[in-house]
Amino acid sequence: MAVKDGDVEQGLLSGLKKQQHSTWTILRSYKRIVMIAASLTVLVGLVCLAQGSPSSSVKPVTPTLNVPAEIQHSWAQYSPYFAADQYRAPSKGCEVTQVNIIQRHGARFPTSGAATRIKSALAKLTSVSNFTDPRLNFIKTFTYDLGSDDLVSFGAAQSFDSALEVHQRYSHLVSAKNVPFVRASSSERVVASAVNWTQGFAAATHVYTPKVDLILEEAANDTLDDAMCPQAGSSDTQTTQWLSVYGPSIAASLNAGAPGANLTNVDVYNLISLCPFDTVFHEKRSPWCDLFATEKGAFSGFAYSGDLDKYYNTGYGQDLGPVQGVGYVNELIARLTGTAVHDNTQTNRTLDANPATFPLNRTIYADFSHDNQMIAIYAAMGLFKQATALNTTNPYSSSKRTWFASRLVPFSARMVVEKLQCGKTQNVRILVNDAVQPLEFCGSGNGLCTVDAFVKSQSYSRNNGEGDFERCFA
Ligand SMILES: *[C@@H]1O[C@H](CO)[C@@H](O)[C@H](O)[C@H]1NC(C)=O
Ligand SMILES: *[C@@H]1O[C@H](CO)[C@@H](O)[C@H](O)[C@H]1NC(C)=O
Ligand SMILES: *[C@@H]1O[C@H](CO)[C@@H](O)[C@H](O)[C@H]1NC(C)=O
Ligand SMILES: *[C@@H]1O[C@H](CO)[C@@H](O)[C@H](O)[C@H]1NC(C)=O
Ligand SMILES: *[C@@H]1O[C@H](CO)[C@@H](O)[C@H](O)[C@H]1NC(C)=O
Ligand SMILES: *[C@@H]1O[C@H](CO)[C@@H](O)[C@H](O)[C@H]1NC(C)=O
Ligand SMILES: *[C@@H]1O[C@H](CO)[C@@H](O)[C@H](O)[C@H]1NC(C)=O
Repeated sequence: MAVKDGDVEQGLLSGLKKQQHSTWTILRSYKRIVMIAASLTVLVGLVCLAQGSPSSSVKPVTPTLNVPAEIQHSWAQYSPYFAADQYRAPSKGCEVTQVNIIQRHGARFPTSGAATRIKSALAKLTSVSNFTDPRLNFIKTFTYDLGSDDLVSFGAAQSFDSALEVHQRYSHLVSAKNVPFVRASSSERVVASAVNWTQGFAAATHVYTPKVDLILEEAANDTLDDAMCPQAGSSDTQTTQWLSVYGPSIAASLNAGAPGANLTNVDVYNLISLCPFDTVFHEKRSPWCDLFATEKGAFSGFAYSGDLDKYYNTGYGQDLGPVQGVGYVNELIARLTGTAVHDNTQTNRTLDANPATFPLNRTIYADFSHDNQMIAIYAAMGLFKQATALNTTNPYSSSKRTWFASRLVPFSARMVVEKLQCGKTQNVRILVNDAVQPLEFCGSGNGLCTVDAFVKSQSYSRNNGEGDFERCFA
């Protein structure tokens, strides 16, 4: 069964219906009151419909992929978005008053570098005249027709659908004078995702049409990209170590069926990646997925490779990873507190000091970005902190691991920071792909911190990375 946006929401709805049903039984003697209440609900619903809000008849457009969920979830950062938990409405007595979304672009083609490596691995296989393993026969008629870098139409649909969900949850924050403020980092796939999100949002409201308000140049100061720390290292050492654990037996198995292909471990990684890339482009299961489903350790190896890559590239395992998320966190603090941005890292001060390019009076902010940048932001904030660093040769060395790239940064991943008014208190709740984060770093036991406690907890960002930003250039 493929994962489709909206499944979780439907599950929630049917749960609610059940609850209403039992309430009905208990209150049978109050049938009349209930009936009056029900007609009132319908009336309110009709009024809302007439105003174009909040209920929406727009159907999600993301197609289902005929690939089992557990395989899609092993695609690490190339997993199509899925809810990591069931969305829970804020507790009673709390009302959402502001929403800050940072979202990864939807599904894309391989980057140009990855596309070159994939083609090189494929060329080795197609040069073999006779496969001795029938599982490889499909390669004789397989055509590689992927582009590079850009959003694919499945990814556009994911972005469109994510806006439907935002509108469904937060339409009370939207009005003619107050539409979401939208920014995007300048890559084509990120801007296109933002555009498709605004289209989804406009379709859901029937009335209000947000636009992409600001595009942040990736060549300049940009809080939505991780390109401003030249001294930061990469995750190559760690992913190569892991590849030398899971790669050789798969390479040997493929080479046995394709004598003379001489596939390396690196080729193996790139061929496995064809399963997600070919699938999200063609919107149907790629034959490469069938091949690697029969190759022991291929998908689990691939998944852990993505986990390590994110952890050691801009996450906790990278000395200068978290600092790259500081600029965004300082912008988030500015929005939550309604005060000017204080940041000496990667913000563009010209933009952040101007109410036209960094307003503080909106209720929904939607920013479009990349996986590596979102990871840096999670790490700067203290989300998904691990008890022990990820082991480069053993995925199971910690039973407490919560670091899974598929749950952190799938295609179209989203972190939503809700500001909640609970009585007299201003609170913060953070959802990453619908999973409420524990926020132990600001003393929460239930996923709710006061805005004050949250801001206090963000001292690493408020102190501009405590010297780390300078080290980016030293
Ligand atoms: C291809 O391989 C099969 C299985 O090893 C063998 O029977 C067949 O003769 C080979 N054909 C050619 C053209 O080499
Ligand atoms: C996404 O936006 C592009 C460009 O405006 C458009 O061609 C495409 O139809 C949109 N797709 C969806 C699903 O909204
Ligand atoms: C925000 O402030 C600007 C400038 O004062 C104003 O034009 C705009 O209408 C305000 N927007 C909202 C949603 O209050
Ligand atoms: C700041 O943003 C402006 C407007 O996009 C741009 O022209 C300028 O180059 C940026 N400056 C830096 C240092 O990023
Ligand atoms: C594989 O290696 C052998 C021996 O070095 C070589 O003859 C052959 O051309 C190589 N095959 C490919 C596809 O590069
Ligand atoms: C860009 O960032 C650098 C490093 O913090 C800073 O010195 C510079 O003033 C910034 N430029 C702008 C326009 O904000
Ligand atoms: C990683 O796991 C391996 C294999 O279980 C173990 O031998 C090694 O000590 C672990 N490394 C670290 C740094 O914990």
